[in-house]
Amino acid sequence: MSADGQTRLTPGAGTDWTIDQAWARYTPAEHQVWVTLYERQSALLTDRACDPFLRGLEALDLHRAGIPDFARVNAELNRLTGWSVVAVPGLVPDVVFFDHLANRRFPAGRFIRKANELDYLEEPDIFHDVFGHVPMLTDPEFADYMAAYGRGGLRAMQRGQLHQLARLYWYTVEFGLLQTPAGVRIYGAGIVSSRTETIFALDDPSPNRLGFDLERIMRTPYRIDDFQQVYFVAPSLGALLEATLRDFGPIYDRLARAADIPIAALEPTDRVITLGSQAYARARAPAAQ
Ligand code: PHE
Ligand code: FE
Repeated sequence: MSADGQTRLTPGAGTDWTIDQAWARYTPAEHQVWVTLYERQSALLTDRACDPFLRGLEALDLHRAGIPDFARVNAELNRLTGWSVVAVPGLVPDVVFFDHLANRRFPAGRFIRKANELDYLEEPDIFHDVFGHVPMLTDPEFADYMAAYGRGGLRAMQRGQLHQLARLYWYTVEFGLLQTPAGVRIYGAGIVSSRTETIFALDDPSPNRLGFDLERIMRTPYRIDDFQQVYFVAPSLGALLEATLRDFGPIYDRLARAADIPIAALEPTDRVITLGSQAYARARAPAAQ
């Protein structure tokens, strides 16, 4: 995760903002929060998350001793796709974030939420960052996608169009759905790490579910404070990677002139998988509808 405008280095952090995970310092209560969340989510996700996610969760054995020790996770993750997890104090500046991704390092918060805030938190913690993001990094295609995104992020910054590229991250890495032979499944980290959004994203009649469309996504704003009003369903992880490996130069040129699409609107070119009622969003914000 990254945030604009943060410039002060936390004491003890290196210039790449990494810190020691200090795994030995987690308390039994903190380990217990991980175990509670892990058990709840892994049971819910068995027939909801996509196979690459579930396989990654198994392969990395993220359960055993409560909060995972990055050194142990990295031995296996590195062997599978060359990725590793590094600890950071919290949100880091975009340029630092992208540089880590481009070099196959995923920056993760090391703190864990409190037992009385299992379902809501303002900043991504280690459960979101590691349980949510890291299993997908064991998939070779997704692993390449994330590294390419890091390189693309630096370029989007130089062009002043990072807000448009960030939408791609949001609607894929954080809130992406995947078409599979068994039906629509989840791969987005923001969904798999949330009990309520895991159910909402797949089952609720409110949101639109649309076929993945790169430029369309980059014209669609998103909300960070509530469930999504639209999800995009990728035909495969390979298709996701392929769509993004091309040169975005011409796309950025077109986006610079194109209007944003209101969050719950449909475009004539949309491939509608589920037409949402938007009932949830309307009930939450009557004035805004
Ligand atoms: N191909 C994109 C570019 O030329 C970079 C990118 C790759 C963006 C993967 C997102 C995901 O800028
Ligand atoms: Fe995240």
